[in-house]
Amino acid sequence: MKKKIIVGNWKMNPTSLDEAVKIYKAVKTAASRLPYVHVVVCPPSVYIQRLNSSRSVSPVSIGAQNVFFEEDGAFTGEISPRMLKNLGVSHVLVGHSEAREMGETDEIVARKAEAVLDAGIHPIVCVGEKERDAHGMYLDILKEQIKNSLAKVPKKLIHQVIMAYEPVWAIGAKEPMEPSHIHETSIFIKKVISDIFGHENAFKTVILYGGAANFRNASDIVEKGNVDGLLVGRESVNIPGFIELLKSINARS
Ligand code: PGA
Repeated sequence: MKKKIIVGNWKMNPTSLDEAVKIYKAVKTAASRLPYVHVVVCPPSVYIQRLNSSRSVSPVSIGAQNVFFEEDGAFTGEISPRMLKNLGVSHVLVGHSEAREMGETDEIVARKAEAVLDAGIHPIVCVGEKERDAHGMYLDILKEQIKNSLAKVPKKLIHQVIMAYEPVWAIGAKEPMEPSHIHETSIFIKKVISDIFGHENAFKTVILYGGAANFRNASDIVEKGNVDGLLVGRESVNIPGFIELLKSINARS
């Protein structure tokens, strides 16, 4: 049975290290009893070292929320893929809509994805349209975003990439996207990947959905939306809600 991947994007939360440790420990304990989910938590970078300090085999992988594409040098405020790798980070979000909103272009996303792969980390490449129009223009936008964001991924490494489909209008919203629409869009994403990397690679590409996922709707999204997992924002820092979400996915697998 293939494990479902649940990624918790903590965003700029919580404000104290103690609280971060508390969330992480609770998630770790829960995850250790859930064999059908692979949990990745992406805390703010300042907490990574502490959370990952034991470095023992853990049921929870540590991801980062962002990264820079250079390895080292005069880049004030930036963190390199190698630095994250050295802290035991296995996944990095690139192209999240909140980063794109602050100026991250497809070209930057492509360079980041390439650098992350070079460091031996899985990039979680986020894509998603800002709005859905009746004429299907959003599909063209999505296609361009995928093509451009993956432009520097070598064919032999595409299997290391995780795609996260996050319609921007569903992020932070009350309701997620309709699961049948998630299913349609994930097929579309695979088609675009197939055109670039071939059918077999596209078939194997892991696709997550993100946007207003919570413990009530998670299993429906994964099952009916036919995705490999979820990218969870708000619910990932709500300990009881996130644990319920993980249990619901584990139970359906
Ligand atoms: P949300 O955020 O689950 O709070 O809607 C998702 C995300 O931004 O990854």
